[in-house]
Amino acid sequence: MARVLVTGARGMLGRRLVEAFSLRHEVIATARCASDGVLSLDICERADVAERVARVAPDWIVNAAAYTAVDKAESEEALAMRANADGPAELARAARASGARLLHVSTDFVFRGDAREPIDESAAAEPVGAYARSKWAGEEAVRRLLPQAVIFRVAWLFGPDGKNFVDTILRVAREGRPLRVVADQLGSPTFTADAAAAAVAVLESGIEGTVHAANTGVTSWHAFAEEACRLAGLKAEIQPISTAEWPTPAARPAYSALRNRVLEEKLGLCQRPWQEALKDHISRKSGT
Ligand SMILES: NC(=O)c1ccc[n+]([C@@H]2O[C@H](COP(=O)([O-])OP(=O)(O)OC[C@H]3O[C@@H](n4cnc5c(N)ncnc54)[C@H](OP(=O)(O)O)[C@@H]3O)[C@@H](O)[C@H]2O)c1
Repeated sequence: MARVLVTGARGMLGRRLVEAFSLRHEVIATARCASDGVLSLDICERADVAERVARVAPDWIVNAAAYTAVDKAESEEALAMRANADGPAELARAARASGARLLHVSTDFVFRGDAREPIDESAAAEPVGAYARSKWAGEEAVRRLLPQAVIFRVAWLFGPDGKNFVDTILRVAREGRPLRVVADQLGSPTFTADAAAAAVAVLESGIEGTVHAANTGVTSWHAFAEEACRLAGLKAEIQPISTAEWPTPAARPAYSALRNRVLEEKLGLCQRPWQEALKDHISRKSGT
């Protein structure tokens, strides 16, 4: 049994990581503010990070804390950099000092978006936009300070906690409001529970370096929305639109589907297709 310190434990992925690691390990959950069972830890505060890590003496540190407001980051790049690059660097320093292993969560958005087939861990990153640059800077800082760290990339997250695309689509569809969804951005939806289970397997296996952990399959936001409505038994007219028809402050990659080559080849772990995970998510929510 390992002692695992999880940061960002109240986020969408953080909650599932706490749940998944708790099945077999001792978990110390931390978030920016303390509350029942969760200790306080702002990952950007060097002294606090060093002290918390020294006190807890974790075997593994799992970093799910991040600045995740993709569009807002365009006007708050310094804040995004602080949380997504400086914070992970502090964790890497503390992990190095204490001998802990570090798994740092990152994103498909580090890719430019011009690939034509699912992108594996060896592909070169070329982040576009402030959020993407900050996440890439975090990856680079962690690699430089702790080369044996795991950079764990996920994509298009959905799950039972927090605001996410699936829940927004289902709410609007239930309200009978019209839906227009971008059909020319392709990616790999990822169920937070599946990603969390993969994170446990990765740390238990001793794998180092970059690991992709999306659900398998490639889809557009539009087809993702249609499948969510179909599985929820909702009849909704969803108009496919282009990225140009839905302008956002931050540019998003047109194609960022991930291939989990390391999980598959080194661990023999094949993530299930996103449609199966989505079905699971929707049936858990409706209690069926
Ligand atoms: N959501 C996606 O679709 C997606 C896709 C690909 C990759 N990812 C990556 O997956 C990871 C988890 O994302 P998520 O969607 O679960 O994010 P989330 O729900 O926004 O959770 C992030 C958590 O980090 C906390 N946090 C922010 N700054 C912090 C700091 N300085 N110290 C401690 N905690 C801090 C936030 O707390 P506050 O509420 O106090 O700010 C929040 O609870 C991130 O690395 C993200 O980049 C997400």
